[in-house]
Amino acid sequence: MSLSQIAKTISASPTLKLNEKAAILREKGDPVIHLGGGEPKSKAPMDAIISAVSNLNSAEVRYTPAEGIPALKKSIIRYTEEFYDRKVAPENVIASGGAKQAIMVGLQAILNQQEEVIYPAPYWVSYPEMAKLCGAIGVPVLPEDGSFYPRIQDIEQRVGSYTKAIIINSPNNPSGAMYSEEFISDIWLIMDDIYHRLIFDGRKPINCYKYAKNLTETSKLIVVNGVSKQYAMTGFRIGWAVGNKKVIEAMANIQGHQTSGPSVVLQKAAVGALNGIQSGVESLRLTLENNRNVMIDYLNSFEGVRVTKPDGTFYCFADFSNYNKSSNKLSEFLIDKVMVLTVPGAEFGMEGYLRLSYCGTIKEITEGIERMKWALDPNSPNELYIGDRKLVRDWS
Ligand SMILES: Cc1ncc(COP(=O)(O)O)c(C=O)c1O
Repeated sequence: MSLSQIAKTISASPTLKLNEKAAILREKGDPVIHLGGGEPKSKAPMDAIISAVSNLNSAEVRYTPAEGIPALKKSIIRYTEEFYDRKVAPENVIASGGAKQAIMVGLQAILNQQEEVIYPAPYWVSYPEMAKLCGAIGVPVLPEDGSFYPRIQDIEQRVGSYTKAIIINSPNNPSGAMYSEEFISDIWLIMDDIYHRLIFDGRKPINCYKYAKNLTETSKLIVVNGVSKQYAMTGFRIGWAVGNKKVIEAMANIQGHQTSGPSVVLQKAAVGALNGIQSGVESLRLTLENNRNVMIDYLNSFEGVRVTKPDGTFYCFADFSNYNKSSNKLSEFLIDKVMVLTVPGAEFGMEGYLRLSYCGTIKEITEGIERMKWALDPNSPNELYIGDRKLVRDWS
């Protein structure tokens, strides 16, 4: 079939594919443990639901301005003031179909063909594909010291005449690493702040505006955020970007032709979440911090696995290369043998690692890791019971 060159290079989102796989196995009745997930299990805030329902009850569900309804922009402006201490105008704000679309239209607004966009590795799975969708080139940068913490010199070495943008995601999916203030202070960037409130050990969100050298209307800083992670509203698909008026106008023009903007019902829900009771965010953060501690304890007792304690998010990126150098093979082995879903590190630009999510229950975390241990440790007993299902080791 004569698909476009770009279409031929784009692969399915591995994390979305894994969600499908988990759903299919569960439907078959398999006791799958999903440690590959990218969404909190808590419920969406009641304020979001009430707000969406009241819009639906009006039975007048219409087009909105492509860049979002004024009420949502107002909430985003207030959010930006609260968390970034920065006053912005409605023309500096666009609401999109998730942070994902905000990043995508942002890249489409600034990248020309063959230009480069840099991002530290491990990186979120969508950045390389988004660059390709723009006809541009994604350039992953692996910190030279082997850590998850990029340094300015790592980035500087890769900046060239084709470099147009840098995407920073901190705390980071998949490593959970929160980059240092010094690092963030020295570059201009697309700041993917989708996890900025889900941080641990008393850390405070980093305000990238504090370090931007140019805070005028020519500033090249685009800050992206959304309701998906912090409010457990992944299915609502609302995110946003804050940037200079020209870039936001360009993004709105692009979005206008792509989707005409996000659904009004879901925008109303986001207004409800942003303006409503906020205690759910802190309780989610506390749950995740506790889950992280449990996962780290379990992984630390797992001989052969190397793990760096995540500073935030709900992911842990652990080095399993002692068991298998191919993360894809290892991930497949774990789902086939013990029905535990993990995401291969190769998808994030680092072989030998697995991304394990701790956004599920403590039982899922502990049982999932116990099953992995059983599968990988050659000294494990020959049999494992999962409920009344008996698994027998037929591998060495
Ligand atoms: C780093 C990162 N950025 C952006 C997104 C997209 O979020 P949204 O659901 O708002 O599109 C995700 C979701 O997994 C993510 O991990």
